[in-house]
Amino acid sequence: MDKKQELLNKIHDNIKEYCDTYFDFSFQTNNPVVRLHEPTTSGDEIFAAVDTMLSTFTTMGKKVRAFENQYAQYTGTKHSVMSNSGSSANLLAVAALANPFTRDYLKPGDEVIVPALSWSTTIWPLIQHNLVPVIVDCDINDFNLDLDKLEKAIGPKTRAIKLVHVYGNPCNMDAIMALAKKHNLFVIEDCCEAMGATYDGKSVGSFGLVGNFSFFFSHHISTMEGGISVTNDFDFTETMRILRAHGWSREADEHQKYVNMYPDIDPRFIFINVGYNLRPTEVNAAMGQIQLPKLDKLIDNRRETADFYLKHLAKHSEFFHFQKETPKGKHVWFGFPVILKDNAPFSVKDITTYMQQRHIETRPVIAGNMARHPAFKMYEHRIAGDLSSADTVMKKGFAFACHHAVDQHAREYVVQTIDSFIAEFVHGRSKITAAV
Ligand SMILES: Cc1ncc(COP(=O)(O)O)c(C=O)c1O
Repeated sequence: MDKKQELLNKIHDNIKEYCDTYFDFSFQTNNPVVRLHEPTTSGDEIFAAVDTMLSTFTTMGKKVRAFENQYAQYTGTKHSVMSNSGSSANLLAVAALANPFTRDYLKPGDEVIVPALSWSTTIWPLIQHNLVPVIVDCDINDFNLDLDKLEKAIGPKTRAIKLVHVYGNPCNMDAIMALAKKHNLFVIEDCCEAMGATYDGKSVGSFGLVGNFSFFFSHHISTMEGGISVTNDFDFTETMRILRAHGWSREADEHQKYVNMYPDIDPRFIFINVGYNLRPTEVNAAMGQIQLPKLDKLIDNRRETADFYLKHLAKHSEFFHFQKETPKGKHVWFGFPVILKDNAPFSVKDITTYMQQRHIETRPVIAGNMARHPAFKMYEHRIAGDLSSADTVMKKGFAFACHHAVDQHAREYVVQTIDSFIAEFVHGRSKITAAV
């Protein structure tokens, strides 16, 4: 064995020993804490990252392309383009859809339907490309776009739907694709909360023109930061590759075509379009290559946790409303959202304060109704119909952990904490003693 390999083996063993010793994210009964997220990385990913750094080939290259192929295969799509975040994947998809390289591309003033219950960077790329977001309410059952309100929102300027599979619950893609066909609309799927989710056995992200995923720390698998766009459209892929890095043709599969067209320009620097720099690094891809095969198992745990919560919190359904898995959908539970019903004699603040005091982290359901956030005051948008359900989610909703590291002890602790809160607030203190 050469010296280099010997040193790498030592580094590998040291990282492994460190992680085996200190990476314990399981629930501790003597110090109960249930965080919203825990790392999905182990020593293997960290070694892959360090190994990549040591190779000195760290900027986007072969590992990114290999991971793109691996991810496209996982989602059953033909192509994928990795970027440095889920937000960048969303940006790239919108930028490509509003680019003259795309047939029948979106023009300034064109409208794109977005869910009120979505994330900031689901919507900002539209505004950044002079498109008009049309904000549509969610359905209080599955939390995804309300299909009736969606159809009513379609107007003469509407060109696309940019949907979100909220908290990992797939949208009803039969209905949405039928609507899109009927009204000749592009579909962009924001799958940033839904990695691994399927509808009718097919991966989310593979239904519309393009689907965007996030590998941020808190997501189903992580490359630290990172995102990826999947599509079956080769030309759209090429455009995303060009826009991802400066607008040059270098990373396009058909780079040679441009070299032949512009023989007087140095082939390394042919700028054939506008562009950004949204590139991921080889380090992100190296981590992704190891994480992806673990995804389905990590999701199994999320689904078991959600089943447990649903079963054991059902006794409080007088006060709690739960998200319903879409028929034909496989929900991957980015977190566990709960909405308080009107007759709950306590507020979100009451219950979340109680949980947080007992070290169970909570948060709003995404960020509630995006249309209520101050940024919208400055930019053109259209609110289509009432947003009453998204308002309810914002005012009466909260979420807690449902990730891969929530084990049976953590599940029981969460349910017991909620049980004792209800006993205290609703049934009076005397019953708490009995309940504990
Ligand atoms: C629906 C949705 N879209 C986009 C993003 C952005 O992803 P990232 O944090 O990787 O930029 C998120 C983040 O959680 C999200 O929930």
